[in-house]
Amino acid sequence: MTGGIPGGASGSSPLKGTLYGIGVGPGDPELLTLKAVRILREVPVIAVPTSYSDAGSMALDVIAPILDERRRAHRSPEIVSLLFPMTRDETVLAEARKTNGEILLGALSRGDVAFVAIGDILFYSTFGNLLTGLFSLRSPLPVEVVPGVTSYSAAAGRLVEPLVQGSERLAILPAVYDPSEIESVLDRFEVVVLMKINKVFGPVRDLLEKKNLLDRTAFVSMVGRPEERVSRTLDELAPDSVPYMSLLVVRKNGWLK
Ligand SMILES: C[S@@+](CC[C@H](N)C(=O)[O-])C[C@H]1O[C@@H](n2cnc3c(N)ncnc32)[C@H](O)[C@@H]1O
Repeated sequence: MTGGIPGGASGSSPLKGTLYGIGVGPGDPELLTLKAVRILREVPVIAVPTSYSDAGSMALDVIAPILDERRRAHRSPEIVSLLFPMTRDETVLAEARKTNGEILLGALSRGDVAFVAIGDILFYSTFGNLLTGLFSLRSPLPVEVVPGVTSYSAAAGRLVEPLVQGSERLAILPAVYDPSEIESVLDRFEVVVLMKINKVFGPVRDLLEKKNLLDRTAFVSMVGRPEERVSRTLDELAPDSVPYMSLLVVRKNGWLK
């Protein structure tokens, strides 16, 4: 894996390739789309985000069967790692966007590039951030998006429960807000999916208890991976054991089973 490609392109050199933004699904390689597999079998360069706990390496794990196949055929792609720093410092973020954009333009000046990320590529994904940087350096740019199965769809599937039915309203949000804001969402929607719960699991659990929603809440982590955990109780979960790849589904109208 490299952190960049030597000889990056300037903003004006001609591009030979297309940037494919590929959502690889939540974890199970069998949830890769046929289109994703076709492109990932061919592209000379595959770029992965490194930003938060193992998300990039998880995307690589999902596509490992394709990488193995290509290795056996002596057609391994170059793997480029793009750093997305975990900070709100706009100067640092702008610098990272520029660096990542330049690395990708360098690769695109030579051929196609696939950027892979977990779940769907345009749903709380680093790809949006990447496009912001790229479009500020170069526009128009040849980009194609291959949507992926989202983590919350896969979670509902593992629970074998409808996410929403009939006139039920669904809210999906990262649990990074103040608990009072999450509470107002819980008051207004019949179904709430809370993403990115690992750092706030304790306070969120307390809020759900206060709202008498603990028996209406399911926990799903690492869905589709060997470490997958699906639980309809939060009782046995120690806050520090909740991985980043975890979410909660709250169904105020209750479960089918
Ligand atoms: C940056 S967002 C990525 C969302 C992703 N693009 C999607 O379509 O689901 C990361 C959050 O997605 C959720 N997530 C992603 N993959 C997951 C998985 N395999 N199991 C459970 N939650 C997952 C978690 O809430 C995690 O904190």
